[in-house]
Amino acid sequence: MKSNQGMKKIIGVVGSYRPMGNTEVSVLEALKGAESVGCSTEVIRLTDYEIRPCRGCMACVFKGINCPIEDDAVELLDRITQADGLVLGVPTYILGTAGILKMLNDRGMGFMAGETRPAEGKPALGIVTAGIPGWEGLAPAMIRIFLASLGFNTLHLSIVNAQGPAEVVLNGSKLEELNSQGVQLARAVMGETIAPESPKEGECPFCHESVVSVKGSEVRCLICGLKGRLSDSHIEWESWDSWRWQAEDVKWHFDHQVRSSGPKYKARFAEIRKLVRQRYGKGKQGK
Ligand SMILES: Cc1cc2nc3c(=O)[nH]c(=O)nc-3n(C[C@H](O)[C@H](O)[C@H](O)COP(=O)(O)O)c2cc1C
Repeated sequence: MKSNQGMKKIIGVVGSYRPMGNTEVSVLEALKGAESVGCSTEVIRLTDYEIRPCRGCMACVFKGINCPIEDDAVELLDRITQADGLVLGVPTYILGTAGILKMLNDRGMGFMAGETRPAEGKPALGIVTAGIPGWEGLAPAMIRIFLASLGFNTLHLSIVNAQGPAEVVLNGSKLEELNSQGVQLARAVMGETIAPESPKEGECPFCHESVVSVKGSEVRCLICGLKGRLSDSHIEWESWDSWRWQAEDVKWHFDHQVRSSGPKYKARFAEIRKLVRQRYGKGKQGK
């Protein structure tokens, strides 16, 4: 991969353990497109790094400090969010993404909870590989959530159907699509305005997924929180001026729904401890 000073840089992140498998090849093809119009690129294989699970200590939110776990997650998230643009490729495992992406997403809460998110508005592409058409399940949604949570603007999400390692290379039209998405990403990174795709029927206008709850005629996008109504078998979405992943809404969420819970919890901490001891003793030891 080329790397030249002064050029805009796009990072390709690969979330598969299979080196040069379908995910890596797909990411490389998008990066090839980006290089063809003058961006430098770099690849990060998540599986080369140590990423431990979030411990739920909340220090990143309540104390505003870097995650105290000593592994590679914070450094990785720093590198990913400091690039000018991102290509994120992850395989579908059991109808979701491979777990490594969720582990990294959870460890990124500190990157969402500050005054500003380091990747705010930066363009990104998502790529999900899946062996069987229609079996990608929630994996595209999980990629959208990862990108939106860090502030990236997802220009496009490609679903790549291929089973055996690197089999995607036989699919010329998919390679072409990935390459041209890489070109579009590079153009966006270089300041060109890329018109957002229009949502298709049934898709949320923000995330372009159709992962919704339906209660009676009320519909809600489970990714963005946007509400809509079923009307004549199509969804009428409500006003579009606010959504869960917008900078102001993320800030509001952490200030009013997360950080504000701290003093309330502390005020009843002794009472909670006492009730737990009374009902469950010391609990049951697992190991
Ligand atoms: C543990 C595991 C679970 C999988 N689950 C699914 C699945 O739910 N749906 C699907 O379409 N493919 C599934 N696959 C197939 C992979 O998504 C597919 O082979 C993909 O191309 C792998 O990408 P890679 O070559 O980069 O590793 C699964 C593969 C593995 C190893």
